[in-house]
Amino acid sequence: MRLVRTTREFQGLVSHGCIFVPTMGALHVGHAALIREAVLLRARERSSLPVIVSIFVNPTQFNEESDLARYPRTLESDSRLCGECGADAVYVPDESEVYPPETRILVPTLPYVATSPRLEDATRPGHFAGVCQVVARLFELVRAHVALFGEKDWQQFKVIEAMVASSPELRLRPRVVGVPTVREADGLAMSSRNVFLTPADRSKALAISRSLHDALSAKSVSTAEQSMSDRLSHAGLHVEYAVVRDAQTLLPFIGNGPHNGRALIAARVGSVRLIDNTAWPG
Ligand code: PAJ
Repeated sequence: MRLVRTTREFQGLVSHGCIFVPTMGALHVGHAALIREAVLLRARERSSLPVIVSIFVNPTQFNEESDLARYPRTLESDSRLCGECGADAVYVPDESEVYPPETRILVPTLPYVATSPRLEDATRPGHFAGVCQVVARLFELVRAHVALFGEKDWQQFKVIEAMVASSPELRLRPRVVGVPTVREADGLAMSSRNVFLTPADRSKALAISRSLHDALSAKSVSTAEQSMSDRLSHAGLHVEYAVVRDAQTLLPFIGNGPHNGRALIAARVGSVRLIDNTAWPG
């Protein structure tokens, strides 16, 4: 397993492309699942492409300076984990590699799912522009053929899928693969931000996965949304959204026909903002 800092260093390795897992580091078991899935996918498809994990804390997708400054950085244990999971190389570019001075790195045209649902796009203005910019740039730097994303960040996953399908500026269109959310034994979705939870806040945060579970048995969208909000507020969380939406567009359901739904939550526990989601059968 190699640790590389410039694309020049791994030109040979990715000359035919790669299977790509983009991350911001502070890796946990959720990230490990993506890397292991990338290795399995390569075996299933009898591919010889290398599995590349990138670690880059992308400044353009953060809304708050303080969030960027305190983002956990754990490179040593991260690269160990990547090796254990079977990655061929960890790409750790510095900012001048991703955003070379005097070069304008384009923001691809944002798909509707990045701007219309009023979910992450409402509370984190500019966030998906930053995500699309860095992901499109990284795709080119590593010559991604396949790229894996976690369903934990459902809107991000749908935004990347839509960007690859429809943004005209994209020069590389890798296949986008989603990987199911990995949870702690008690249901809390794994997240790099969980380290900031005090023990008391961590137990409050369990209301997120539990209210998603409750929503599964609700008979209508409105009762599902109400029960999620009630349970979250009752546990002392500040709810940003707790909704059921169309799983692809993330817009409210139109009409009464059968729907492929997704229940999605963003809530603050103390100063920590957490998101989670689940398939909603409707
Ligand atoms: P980061 O938060 O490091 O997440 C990297 C990938 O790991 C994302 O695809 C995310 O959805 C996935 N992931 C995180 N927690 C997970 C969990 N519990 N189960 C399954 N997958 C999980 O998302 C980003 O970085 C950035 O926005 C990035 C795409 C790298 C662009 O900068």
